[in-house]
Order: sequence, then C-alpha cells, then structure tokens
Amino acid sequence: MKHLMTLADLTSAEIDHIFAITEDLKTKFAKGLREPLLPGRVIALLFEKPSLRTRVSFEAGIGHLGGSAMFLGADTGFGKRESLADFGRVLSQYVDAIVVRAFRHDTVCELARHAACCVINGLTDFAHPCQAMADLYTIRELAGKLQGRTLGWVGDANNVARSLAVGCGKVGMNFVAASPKAYQWSEEQVAWITQQVPELNLTITTDPGEAVADAVAVYTDVWASMGQEKERQQRKRDFADYQVNAHLMARAQKGAMFMHCLPARRGEEVTDEVIDGPQSVVVQQAANRMHAQKGILAWMLGKAN
Ligand code: CP
Ligand code: NVA
Repeated sequence: MKHLMTLADLTSAEIDHIFAITEDLKTKFAKGLREPLLPGRVIALLFEKPSLRTRVSFEAGIGHLGGSAMFLGADTGFGKRESLADFGRVLSQYVDAIVVRAFRHDTVCELARHAACCVINGLTDFAHPCQAMADLYTIRELAGKLQGRTLGWVGDANNVARSLAVGCGKVGMNFVAASPKAYQWSEEQVAWITQQVPELNLTITTDPGEAVADAVAVYTDVWASMGQEKERQQRKRDFADYQVNAHLMARAQKGAMFMHCLPARRGEEVTDEVIDGPQSVVVQQAANRMHAQKGILAWMLGKAN
C-alpha cells in the first residue's frame, strides 16, 4: 500500500510514470473524455485548514475518474475526539484513500501509520507534494524538459519550497532559494533534503537576483502561511526586499515563467503587474492540480497502476 507524505516517497521513475498518466488523462479531458479508472472507489478529503484548489480539484478529479469524494471537516472531531490512530484505523475501513490537510506534518504521518488504505498529504506545515507535482508538470508542459533547468524560489523557505526542492532533485532540476537569513532552512532541514535527494543541485542565498538569474521559473508564495497569521506584520517587514515585481522579473531570463501556488497576497510577495502579466502561469498551475492529482490517484489506486 502506497502513501504520499512527501515527494521523497516517489522515485524519479514513478514521477515520470505519473506525469505520463497525467498527460494522457489531461489530453482525454480536453476532448470531453472521462476515463473511469476508479469505479466505485470512495476517497475521503479530511481538512483541518481552508482550501479552494486542493479540495475542489480532488473532488472534481475523483468525479471524472468515476469515484466519489467525501469531504470531512471539523465536525469529525479529527485530532480532538479520539486518538489519531483510532481515527485512521476506523476511517480507512470505509474508504479507499484519504487525502488529508493538517497543520502538523506528524498528524498526517501518524494517520498514515495506522490507516489500512492509502493516505495522501494535501498540505502540512512541512510539505505540499501534490502542489509540487502539478508545478513540475506545468514546467514540463511549458519548457519541454525539466532536466538541467533551474527553479528560482524567492521568499519564505516553506512547505511548498521544500516540496519543490525535493521534486527538483527527483527530476534533475536545480533549485536556488533566496530568503532572508532568519527564514532559510535550518542545517537539519537542509540535511533532510540532501538525504532524500543527494543528486539535487541546491543553492541557498539571501539575494533574490541570484535566485532568478538562471531560472526557467521564478516562484514565490505568501510570506505568512496558514497558522502563521500572528507573524504576518513582522514577516511583511522582514520580506520587504523579496517581492517579485517587474524589476526582479527583468533580472530573470527572457521568457522565464512566474509561478505561485495561490492564494496570493497581491501587493506583498507579488505585484499585480507580475501575477497578471504575460509571464504568469498561475492559472495553468492551478488547473494542473486537478490533472496531476488524477495521475497520482490513478497510479496509486487505479487500473493505470
Ligand atoms: N495551492 C493550494 O493548495 O490552494 P488551496 O489552499 O486553495 O487548496
Ligand atoms: N505556504 C502556504 C501554501 C498554501 C497553499 C500555506 O501553507 O499556507
């Protein structure tokens, strides 16, 4: 039984295979074809935090594949009413897979340890693997190949950044992250990444110009993630020099794409001019969440496996 906690759970060959399934399903979807790869399968979507993209793209994608999605919010008492072990053991008797979004990464790992079905991380404070799969797929669509390309990260070295860094290692991309010193990965976190993907060419800097210089894609995310709302004002000051604006994009390669996982705080980490401009691919990224997750589900549970 497979779980997806971080992209370290997938080999490079498995990522390639999922991309091939994604491409096939996306092409068919554009022609109005829906392939029922998950007939009768029920997938629980268990969310401790808000979501538009993750929840709806999973629900819609599961519907396209002939399965059904069951949204579970706070009224399940998840993490409060009973132990995570009991919750996972019981819920997994009813469903074929659980997609879970939680504050703490340990919560999702603990659930997976006790579940009798596949568990997919739909975002934790540590990782957002489904986002990174969709993003790498988007770069592959637009840039043709991934091997040897560079992703330039500007901003907080957060869950999305960590997943992209591991993903880049798996697909042969370089990763350059520019963050203020206090928001860079700790030595322990860098050690975790390099242990998962020893082949990754990783550069960590405080200079946003260095991050974008060779990048095929310039990526940013909010300065305060869900759960860090109280730090928002402090972070706005600390990240003031890390806004992705026209001036910074002008330092990137001609034609570099602008990426953001969304939701964005316009006027903070990115200007309207950039996110609405010709280099922005944020809507394609959001659309690809659904296609890539259909690829992941079909690979994990379906006949395409
Ligand atoms: N990018 C992303 O995960 O968006 P949601 O929080 O809306 O799911
Ligand atoms: N880093 C953000 C990503 C949201 C999709 C957060 O965790 O809130």
